[in-house]
Amino acid sequence: MKIIKLNAIDSTNTYLKEASKNVTLEDGIVVVTNKQTEGRGQMGAKWQSKEGLSLSFSVFKRFDALSINEQSCISFVVSVGVKNALQKLQIPEVSIKWPNDILSYQKKLCGILIENQLEGNKIISSVIGIGLNVNETEFQELPFATSMKLASGNSYNLDEVLQIVFEEVLKELLSVENSETLSVKKKYEADLFRIDRVSVFENSEGYQFNGIIRGITNTGKLKVEIENETIQVYGLKEIKMLFS
Ligand code: BTN
Repeated sequence: MKIIKLNAIDSTNTYLKEASKNVTLEDGIVVVTNKQTEGRGQMGAKWQSKEGLSLSFSVFKRFDALSINEQSCISFVVSVGVKNALQKLQIPEVSIKWPNDILSYQKKLCGILIENQLEGNKIISSVIGIGLNVNETEFQELPFATSMKLASGNSYNLDEVLQIVFEEVLKELLSVENSETLSVKKKYEADLFRIDRVSVFENSEGYQFNGIIRGITNTGKLKVEIENETIQVYGLKEIKMLFS
């Protein structure tokens, strides 16, 4: 693993995105930091973690032959890679909450932020940011957050966890260019949180309804069965699952 360790940085994703504009980055290079001052989450959210207790890192991955229609495949395989790593580390009850939160016992222990660089209709590279709660035990005002330590009762060496997560994610990423979307999707759906169970959702207008997750589309949207066995398809900002 080629690794750049930084004591503090605004965001490891921003660092790699900027660096890729100025220099030729090595494929698979990792940037990890003890502290992010402006850690970024999905949909403009902030990502915060306590210095030295958790992992904040980004991987730069190049692609030769990936079309922009396959953007969601990157997101699927990264989630599967992180999930596999956590299972290997014997974290209990690991699942993937759409689109790419990783949970243990229904609480979030890892967030993923993927930023793709496009050229024409090809994805030429991705910056894959991973925030993993490792030894943190206090999450004030975040009732649905957890950590590896809270989930398993054990403390972890951050470098060892980084190595395992990196290996599992890279393994999945290396296969993405040669895999059928269908097989990638199947792997992702195998551990999808609340698949085939009734859940409560809220749409973008604030309307709450019951539905059953039936999987995802090729473009990464969520398929929800509502009344009369009708399947509705939702994009990122169009639905949220309420815990119940
Ligand atoms: C989310 O769940 O909202 C995604 C969180 C992603 C956080 C990671 S930490 C390393 C990388 N750098 C960032 O600024 N964000 C990602």
